[in-house]
Amino acid sequence: MGGNYSYHPNVTPKDLKGIVLTSTHLPSSEFSIETSTRPMSDGDREKILSKPGFGKHFTDHMVAIDWTLDKGWHAPRIMPYGPLMLDPASLVLHYAQAIFEGLKAYQHADGSIWAFRPELNAARFAKSAQRLGLPELPKDLFLQSIQKLVAIDAKWLSQTPETSLYLRPFMIADESFLGVRGAEKVAFYVIASPAGPYFENGVSSIPIWVSAHHTRAAKGGTGYAKCAGNYAGSLAPLQEARQNGCAQVLFLDAQQGQYLEELGGMNIFTVFKDGSLATPALGDSILAGVTRQSIIDIARADGHRVEERQISLEEVRTGLATGDITELFACGTAAVLFPISVLKSHTFAYSTPNVGASSVSLSLREKLTDIQYGRAKLSHHWMHKLTSA
Ligand code: COI
Repeated sequence: MGGNYSYHPNVTPKDLKGIVLTSTHLPSSEFSIETSTRPMSDGDREKILSKPGFGKHFTDHMVAIDWTLDKGWHAPRIMPYGPLMLDPASLVLHYAQAIFEGLKAYQHADGSIWAFRPELNAARFAKSAQRLGLPELPKDLFLQSIQKLVAIDAKWLSQTPETSLYLRPFMIADESFLGVRGAEKVAFYVIASPAGPYFENGVSSIPIWVSAHHTRAAKGGTGYAKCAGNYAGSLAPLQEARQNGCAQVLFLDAQQGQYLEELGGMNIFTVFKDGSLATPALGDSILAGVTRQSIIDIARADGHRVEERQISLEEVRTGLATGDITELFACGTAAVLFPISVLKSHTFAYSTPNVGASSVSLSLREKLTDIQYGRAKLSHHWMHKLTSA
């Protein structure tokens, strides 16, 4: 690989030590490019693109950028997609110093490719980095990375309905060291994966399991950060959900075990019979979903009242029993928006009255995807052009 790099630290490494791990700026021309000598054949790629599933296939290239305490961010490069070489003593393998993002690129009817609100992902990535003691990646570098990867792997997008290219930026502590402290050597990568519907049964409604014994995040913890450990902790409860016939698990707050938080990989909304909506207010323990915020914005623009507040499980149970709550839905980048058909636990099961085509949920989903796929006017200025037609 060519080592064509430069870096311009804003602060000296001495200033950085133990205080802030932050910005370096790289001009756009500094990425070196090594193209894959073994890209997937057109036939195999088209087969995958006709039914991509989620997270199973990867494009021909990836982005890598290194960071060290001494040099800051350096060596940005596009390289063939492939395995990483990690020392077994890498900090990330022991202490989970790892964060990630998820965002999608969409091909519009004229062939141009767009990302949806990527600056929000860049900002959240920086917040996650702060919480995990990792260096912040400058927003420009985040945006350039996804733009360059999509440009080189543009063939991996298609206009098959409900498909997109899921982009997964992530940062790991790859310093070989077993002492417990923030890494002084880190790597940032972006990989890309063609995506269809997140759930195997396509775009339909899902049953949700309410976890009675496990919580996801506590006050002062890492719940608001998109860090690997949060997801690891949700997997045993997810297994319990699956054993009980549910596709996802809903976590309640850690202090009182009474209030809705999130699904681990998705945020949750309730829809009331007067057409208003509510979603748990953000705090330390809930991830600020880009889809969550966009749904709030779209619903408000559409005349719905939307409250961000505490929602107790009791309120939801009563609302579903009386019909005051007509719909529940989950949303996230990967899954977009899914109506929840049933909310259940060991001691109860409630069906949501309206999971049909005329639901508020599905109308919001359509409005959101119309913006993402360029079918609606870009009134929100949410789309960020990555490549031209
Ligand atoms: C996303 O929607 O991007 C998520 O975070 C879910 C993911 C972990 C599959």
